[in-house]
Amino acid sequence: MGNRLTETNLRWRAVVRGVGAYLPHRCMSNAELAATVETSDEWIVQRTGITQRYIAAPDETTSVLATHAARAALSNAGVDANDIDLVIVATSTPDYTFPATATQVQAALGIRHGAAFDLQAVCSGFVFALATAEKFIRSGSHRRVLVIGAETFSRLLDWTDRTTCVLFGDGAGAVVLEGEDGGNAFKDGGIISTHLRSDGRFRDKLFVDGGPGSNGMTGHLRMEGRDVFRHAVGMIEDVVTAAFAESGITADDLDWFVPHQANRRIIDASAVKLGVAPSKVVATVQLHANTSAASIPLALATACGDGRIKKGNLVMLEAMGGGFTWGSALVRW
Ligand code: ACO
Repeated sequence: MGNRLTETNLRWRAVVRGVGAYLPHRCMSNAELAATVETSDEWIVQRTGITQRYIAAPDETTSVLATHAARAALSNAGVDANDIDLVIVATSTPDYTFPATATQVQAALGIRHGAAFDLQAVCSGFVFALATAEKFIRSGSHRRVLVIGAETFSRLLDWTDRTTCVLFGDGAGAVVLEGEDGGNAFKDGGIISTHLRSDGRFRDKLFVDGGPGSNGMTGHLRMEGRDVFRHAVGMIEDVVTAAFAESGITADDLDWFVPHQANRRIIDASAVKLGVAPSKVVATVQLHANTSAASIPLALATACGDGRIKKGNLVMLEAMGGGFTWGSALVRW
């Protein structure tokens, strides 16, 4: 186990203090979807594991979902909003092109100090935001950070395209990170390592065909699903094995594996490839479909809420998405 990460004393550790999530009220079942587009509950469940998704009401923008999730995380952490000095929102579905959704969340929470910004790495957004927050905390510049993944992907979907509209849903999740002075993340708790990657050559495999700088439209999500699937498992293996190699642990040392919730088949294939026991996999995709940057904190909120993830557990987070982007985060809870 001896190596740089397990032995070095890092001055500021980014410790997870609390987790929260929010789903819109409106739940859309596969059967309801099958009434409007040529698909079936059987096809969707067999190919993806998804049984339902939540759809935000017109007045439920991404910042509204994010604010609900942030409040739940603050309450879970026992931290006052005014003690937060940085808000990062990972989203690909901002309320407006600008200002950043994070600033709307900051205002809604009554925070008048510190900084707030958005981060865009599509489905990998939460892992990228967590890594960013960890570096702010580790540097000593910020003490308490709200990291939020929030999406209204229903606004980006082409509801006549059965190859994509069955896969996604809306939601938000958040964690409160706090810097703790001294100790060692591996032993005492906190984010142990993060590994981030991108490769823009894969843009056309998964993208939105609109934007302010191209055609001035919001656009619709387009995807070559089979190619995304093919690349996803290898990319996930890449960043998780990098985390294993750097920290000197193996899949057996993990207590929980919390993947981006895109598709049950990707989750299961990744766990098999990495040698993670099925009993350690946290999967919630069946309940809310792929909520992009919100999916990992939604899964975390479920597994912390039902008592599976406990203080001291070793947890591996991973995600892959548009760009392509992919990343992992190893955390001692
Ligand atoms: N209902 C019924 N039939 C459908 C549907 C649908 N919703 N969608 C496609 N089909 C049909 C196709 O037209 C095709 O018919 P054909 O054989 O007559 O041509 C048949 O089903 C098989 O289509 P495939 O695309 O080969 O199906 P596949 O087994 O690859 O499953 C899926 C498609 C679920 C999209 C899969 O490729 C996948 O999961 N890809 C990963 C995509 C993903 O998760 N993206 C999320 C964003 S990226 C990320 O988060 C990691």
